Amino acid sequence: MKKANLGSKVLMYPFPIVLFGSVVENKPNYSTVGNVGIMALRPATLYVSSHKSHYTNIGVRENKTFSVNFPSTDLVVESDYCGIVTGHKEDKSEVFKTYYGNIKTAPLIIECPVNISCRVIKEFMVGGMEVFIGKIDETYVNEDLVPERGKPDVIKIDPLLYSVDLNYYKIGEKIARAFSIGKEYKKKA
Ligand SMILES: Cc1cc2nc3c(=O)[nH]c(=O)nc-3n(C[C@H](O)[C@H](O)[C@H](O)COP(=O)(O)O)c2cc1C
Repeated sequence: MKKANLGSKVLMYPFPIVLFGSVVENKPNYSTVGNVGIMALRPATLYVSSHKSHYTNIGVRENKTFSVNFPSTDLVVESDYCGIVTGHKEDKSEVFKTYYGNIKTAPLIIECPVNISCRVIKEFMVGGMEVFIGKIDETYVNEDLVPERGKPDVIKIDPLLYSVDLNYYKIGEKIARAFSIGKEYKKKA
């Protein structure tokens, strides 16, 4: 197979889109972010990379707290809106209904099935991006999406995905069990 070398590019996709939240001037503000990811499971730690000019960053810098909210695909319009309009120019505090957990400066979105609040433990710059590393304080999931003794149902959560082709997607079907299907490898050979 011949490979096309596209040079120094971040072609990592698709990934979930999140609404990155903070409180600025006593109001919640949400920005759409694809640059988000897990740093460690224990302690539960994630990062968000957001351009230094963004309004949401003001609240994160000030309070050292933020939220990460996972929208379902039915929130695609609102989610895209928060990614094309800045809080510097428009009040986005009413786009979603907000509630708070333990941290009163990490606004959580009622309409999103998964909400995470974080405390900043480290921040640094990569080019013009401010990278915030957050220790997860609380994680809320809509009760009907969590089976009694299991993990949240990803298909029901229906996370909004984004890709480098500038389109939104939804997840497809489950294809195999992780930490398990690999055992088939030797049988296949
Ligand atoms: C699909 C999508 C993904 C985005 N991902 C990021 C991102 O990872 N980091 C970032 O700094 N901006 C990202 N943006 C742009 C911000 O969401 C946008 O500039 C927003 O208006 C900032 O809002 P704020 O100024 O109110 O914080 C994205 C926008 C869209 C539509």
